[in-house]
Amino acid sequence: MPMLTGHTRLAGVIGWPIAHSRSPRLHNHWLARHGIDGAYVPLPVRPEGLPDAVRGLRAAGFAGFNATIPHKEALFALCDRLLEPALRAGAVNTVVFEASGAITGTNTDGAGYLASLRAEGVEPAAGPALLLGAGGAARAIAAALLDAGAPVTVTNRTLERAEALVEALPGLRVLPWGRREEGLADHALVVNTTSLGMSGGRALELSLDRAPAGMAVSDIVYVPRRTALLKAAEARGLRAVEGLGMLLHQAVPGFAAWFGATPEVDRDTYELVASDIPLDEA
Ligand code: ATR
Repeated sequence: MPMLTGHTRLAGVIGWPIAHSRSPRLHNHWLARHGIDGAYVPLPVRPEGLPDAVRGLRAAGFAGFNATIPHKEALFALCDRLLEPALRAGAVNTVVFEASGAITGTNTDGAGYLASLRAEGVEPAAGPALLLGAGGAARAIAAALLDAGAPVTVTNRTLERAEALVEALPGLRVLPWGRREEGLADHALVVNTTSLGMSGGRALELSLDRAPAGMAVSDIVYVPRRTALLKAAEARGLRAVEGLGMLLHQAVPGFAAWFGATPEVDRDTYELVASDIPLDEA
């Protein structure tokens, strides 16, 4: 148990639903490791309750909070100050309440994704990246890859959504969803940002027959940890990067801002969170 005193620093994660979130386990592990008098709690907040929740957390003295589905886009309008990554992503996943009371929002998903690649020895800008999907997660990742200097191609079932992403992030190329397999040949990295491949859900159909040798294949789905896509990549001798790394790395800046210490995503941290998640589809 953490020590909780009258000085405990508080943070948490808002979402609806929130019970599945692994963030409390992660942050409380880091708090214990650093011997910090702090707590990080899951906060079930319905979409319509978001403005009240943000004001309430500030009034209750929270240092800040993370946001997950469905709040990331709506939070954007509730912040007093938005940092560049939030502007690029069009969404906020990390909020800090400043001493002045100002609400500062940023987005650490894209940087977290890049850090998860680098942790596996994959240089994000080594070559062009092929992004599957055009939702909120896709935008944060596409922005980070572009900013790192990688050319990025986006392919999405609904073409209009891919085109909307290009409006937000000029410089992206669009590839029709039906041509995603031939598109592999021209890319050094592929990232699945769709919900396909999640445990109990629909499969991602993507043959890797045309994937070039040395390609890195990454997935942001992390339940199961070894998605069918990652297994197919490994079977071909390609580098496979699990989605869990992004979840862990995106948490670092928030923890540092709220609790004043920069935590490490090391083997123990990885295993602590991984032990709670099935490795393979049952
Ligand atoms: P998030 O904001 O978390 O990324 P989202 O906005 O719901 O979630 O995006 C989900 C992504 O998965 C989208 O790119 C979606 O494609 P559409 O824009 O065509 O909806 C993609 N996706 C979901 N189910 C899919 C399916 N059966 N086939 C192909 N793509 C799918």
